[in-house]
Amino acid sequence: MDGPVRGILMACIFFKFIISASPCPPRCQCDTNQMVSCAGSNQTVIPGDLQNSTRFLYLERNNIELIRENTFSSLHHLEELVLAQNKLYEIESGAFTGLSNLDKLFLEENSITILPPGIFAPLVRLTELHLGGNRFPVIPRNLFGSMPSLERLFVEGNQVNLTIESEAFDGLGNLMELSLRSSRIQRLSHGMFSGLLNLARLDLSLNTFGSFTTDVRKDLQHLKGKRDSHTELTTLAEGTFADLKSLVDLNMSSCSLKAINRNIFKGLTSLKQLYLSVNQLRGIDEGTFCESLNLVLLELDGNPLENLEAGSFRCLYRLGYLNLNHTEFNRIGEGFFKELNELAVISLSSSGIVEIAGDAFQNKSRLTRIDLNDNGIKSFNTSLFDGTRNIRTLRLQNNQIKSLPEDIFNGVSGPLNLSLKGNPLVCDCQLDWIPGWLVRNGGTLDRCECDQPPALHGIHLDRVPYDDFHCTPYIVNDLPHIYNATPGDKRFEIVCPVSGKPPPTITWTVPNGETMSKKTVPEYPNGLYRVRENDTLVIRDISSAVEGEFTCEARNNLGHISVQIEVQVVQISNSWMTAFLVVMIVLFVSCAICLLVTFLAPWRRRRRRRELTRTPARRVDPRYGPLSPIAEGNETDEL
Ligand SMILES: *[C@@H]1O[C@H](CO)[C@@H](O)[C@H](O)[C@H]1NC(C)=O
Ligand SMILES: *[C@@H]1O[C@H](CO)[C@@H](O)[C@H](O)[C@H]1NC(C)=O
Ligand SMILES: *[C@@H]1O[C@H](CO)[C@@H](O)[C@H](O)[C@H]1NC(C)=O
Ligand SMILES: *[C@@H]1O[C@H](CO)[C@@H](O)[C@H](O)[C@H]1NC(C)=O
Ligand SMILES: *[C@@H]1O[C@H](CO)[C@@H](O)[C@H](O)[C@H]1NC(C)=O
Ligand SMILES: *[C@@H]1O[C@H](CO)[C@@H](O)[C@H](O)[C@H]1NC(C)=O
Ligand SMILES: *[C@@H]1O[C@H](CO)[C@@H](O)[C@H](O)[C@H]1NC(C)=O
Ligand SMILES: *[C@@H]1O[C@H](CO)[C@@H](O)[C@H](O)[C@H]1NC(C)=O
Ligand SMILES: *[C@@H]1O[C@H](CO)[C@@H](O)[C@H](O)[C@H]1NC(C)=O
Repeated sequence: MDGPVRGILMACIFFKFIISASPCPPRCQCDTNQMVSCAGSNQTVIPGDLQNSTRFLYLERNNIELIRENTFSSLHHLEELVLAQNKLYEIESGAFTGLSNLDKLFLEENSITILPPGIFAPLVRLTELHLGGNRFPVIPRNLFGSMPSLERLFVEGNQVNLTIESEAFDGLGNLMELSLRSSRIQRLSHGMFSGLLNLARLDLSLNTFGSFTTDVRKDLQHLKGKRDSHTELTTLAEGTFADLKSLVDLNMSSCSLKAINRNIFKGLTSLKQLYLSVNQLRGIDEGTFCESLNLVLLELDGNPLENLEAGSFRCLYRLGYLNLNHTEFNRIGEGFFKELNELAVISLSSSGIVEIAGDAFQNKSRLTRIDLNDNGIKSFNTSLFDGTRNIRTLRLQNNQIKSLPEDIFNGVSGPLNLSLKGNPLVCDCQLDWIPGWLVRNGGTLDRCECDQPPALHGIHLDRVPYDDFHCTPYIVNDLPHIYNATPGDKRFEIVCPVSGKPPPTITWTVPNGETMSKKTVPEYPNGLYRVRENDTLVIRDISSAVEGEFTCEARNNLGHISVQIEVQVVQISNSWMTAFLVVMIVLFVSCAICLLVTFLAPWRRRRRRRELTRTPARRVDPRYGPLSPIAEGNETDEL
């Protein structure tokens, strides 16, 4: 062939190739990757002249209303089809025929109310399907037929009340994630999740089914002809989730749940994460979680849990994370978290807590974080953190804490990030240990400010020099105020139950009015008392003479205080004395009776003998008259 002819031919072929290779639909963009994007391009119908090699087709944000039968029948290579945010109200039967390689289909935010049966049957490779934001009144049984590849299904934000028929998802044996979030579902019916043997995540949040009874319960109520309020509250029937053996993650936040019980968790043997936030649960029955032994995470924040019981959290042996923020349970009672020995993080903020039982965190060696912000806590039991050796974050902001006892972190290894902002801290000698503890054990303190004393008001706790934490002398409660001394003892010591910073000087006043201190009295002058170098008062030669009221006065440059201490000198304690007296009286009385009996018997015998010798004469001699009353009395006595 001639050069020019060949040249023209080549040009023709090239031109033809250009034409056939890139007929890009109007207002669309096409690229070499077989991607066609017509997003937001004012399309009202699906462009007809698409390359059969197209793999990605983006048609979102248009005005498409209808998908006709066989629209995509030549797009065997299509992997992703996006039709979200259009005006679709009808999808004809057979619309998806030919899409045998489709992987993802997006149909959300349209106006679809109904889908023809079998519509998804050609989509044998589909793994992800988005149907949210439409107007489905019902998802009928077998809508999806058999879709063995489908792994993720989203029906979120349905615009009208949605009923899901039982066995609606029956053919979706490989579905792993199902979201029915915010879809106006008012009832979970028995069997609606049947067949979902591989489902791992189920989101049912933001629906209203929690305030309705299930069919079964309702029917039962009708049969009984009475309204049983407890039955009505038990809204989710046993077995609702029975097939979901692989379910790991269940979200039932904001579902108006008024009650739950262990029956609804029957079958959920793999469940690890359970979200029940923002419902209306007032309490949790004992043993509710005993069907969910693998639970690792539990969120219950935003429920008015005022009726929690000690057994509410039973069986949660593996729980690591518990969120109880924004509940109203006020008081953490004894044994509340008893079996939760794997707990790592607990959130208890804004829950109106004013009291925490001393054993609340017992044996929680894995606990690393406790959140107690925004409560009304004033003080803590000193042993509260004894079992939380590994705690790293302790948040106590916005409570009513004035002071923390010095030994409260004895069981904590540190480092510890402690936050105390928003508390009326009294920066006196009882708080001076905190900065030092944090230096020794590691950790941080938030920028919490002292409230008292006035001189330190507004100063950050960790900026106050150690020597500036002052205390006027104050009474130390765990020292005795009454002493019992034993007479005859050589020596007896009493301690002034007072502390202060700077250390106060102590002056003692003894019962006879004498005053003394470690400076004024060197060594037993004449008397019975002296004061040791450490301000202890020593009393010698204990007898009743040293009994009475002692006063110690403690004084430093900030103030002074007097404390009365009583010393009682007692040989034996009162109860022993009483017992002793009783025994003595009993002994005395019995002795007296013995003596009486022993002495009376011979005397009577003698007298009797005397009378016997005298009586015949009396009786015989009428001058003596009748027997004397005394003799008569003696005779009756002897009977
Ligand atoms: C979209 O198309 C309609 C007619 O089909 C036209 O009236 C309208 O102006 C177009 N809008 C835009 C933003 O192109
Ligand atoms: C596209 O369709 C034509 C016929 O219309 C066919 O000859 C060609 O092989 C198809 N290409 C692909 C990639 O399927
Ligand atoms: C939808 O459900 C709500 C309660 O969640 C109810 O008040 C409303 O009447 C229902 N609407 C229809 C159309 O049934
Ligand atoms: C559970 O649902 C709520 C409400 O829809 C949502 O805010 C939250 O993020 C969900 N939790 C998880 C872990 O998906
Ligand atoms: C403390 O927790 C450990 C580990 O879970 C457990 O073996 C032990 O029995 C618990 N002790 C008490 C007193 O609860
Ligand atoms: C609980 O509330 C506190 C304070 O509002 C917040 O810092 C914390 O993150 C919350 N915890 C959870 C798990 O939401
Ligand atoms: C602190 O808690 C322990 C253990 O629960 C308890 O025995 C003790 O009485 C509590 N102390 C105070 C002062 O409440
Ligand atoms: C404690 O605070 C320090 C300094 O802000 C930070 O580096 C560390 O990660 C915190 N530890 C924890 C457990 O939050
Ligand atoms: C005071 O000192 C004496 C001996 O020096 C000692 O036996 C006693 O325990 C001390 N008392 C206090 C309260 O330290």
